[in-house]
Amino acid sequence: MLSIGVDIGGTKIAAGVVDEGGEIIAATTRSTPATDPELIEAGVADAVAELRAHHDVVGIGVGAAGFVGADRRTVKFAANLAWRQRPLADQLERLADLPVVIENDANAAGWAEYRFGAATEAKHMLMMTVGTGLGGAIVLDGQLIRGGDGFAGEVAHMTAVPDGQWCGCGRKGCLEQYTSGTALVRTAKHRASAGDSLMGPLVQAAGGDREEIDGPLITRLAQEGDPGSRELIAELGSWLGLGVSSISALLDPDMIVVGGGVVAAGDLLLDPARRSYGANLTARAHRSLAPFVAASMGNRAGIVGAADLAR
Ligand code: BGC
Ligand code: NA
Ligand code: ZN
Repeated sequence: MLSIGVDIGGTKIAAGVVDEGGEIIAATTRSTPATDPELIEAGVADAVAELRAHHDVVGIGVGAAGFVGADRRTVKFAANLAWRQRPLADQLERLADLPVVIENDANAAGWAEYRFGAATEAKHMLMMTVGTGLGGAIVLDGQLIRGGDGFAGEVAHMTAVPDGQWCGCGRKGCLEQYTSGTALVRTAKHRASAGDSLMGPLVQAAGGDREEIDGPLITRLAQEGDPGSRELIAELGSWLGLGVSSISALLDPDMIVVGGGVVAAGDLLLDPARRSYGANLTARAHRSLAPFVAASMGNRAGIVGAADLAR
């Protein structure tokens, strides 16, 4: 039984035909005009039509970066995208004439890692996706936890700093404002504009224009040994670990999977996260520390997880 998984990202729509073993057997992409919901839907429908021309599929799963309703049909709200009460499943079913299920993007990626990727050995998994935003997925005893409104696992919007940085969700001090690619770049630019000499190599690598600094550049320089970039990544990692320690007090996961673009920094991100998690975890002398592992499915996870959850 084949299904289609769709991952709607900030810059592109990625879609694939996925089999029951979690393999993508055909794939395609479209660019996303991220601010226009109708154009996004048209792009998804177009990608789906291309894939269906060669494959018999039973349904479509769509991973969306926002608060997805419990009936898995509507994106109620998105902190970083233009969706407000968007009946995405209705729209897509009309355009594609196939059953559609909507999932939160991080839930889809986390489910894929749990079923087919880095967390197949886990019983209680927490996935954190560190990209433009901060995503979360909670799987306990094999169940993806969705909560009453469907909004469980919104780790991005736990309060990290009372009265801290403004967040796209309309509140202040959310964890995402300290633990995301967006936060990473904002901090780098801020430090560069304040004349912090540790940011010098980064500004130089950005062609002398601090506004050109982006996440992949920071990650690359960190890997090449630049102390300033390493410090930025380590700081992000510490916030990540702090967040995970709080979540662990509540849910006690036995494995932490870290995904998203920033995990390309590997242990430069994960080691500070492990340290801060260990230092802030309650009853740490009396419990096992959950391993922090990098996601193994990369940007395929969203497609595979959404397709699997649609079956
Ligand atoms: C959104 C989540 C999403 C995450 C990653 C957050 O800002 O609230 O719904 O999963 O970003 O895209
Ligand atoms: Na989630
Ligand atoms: Zn927020």
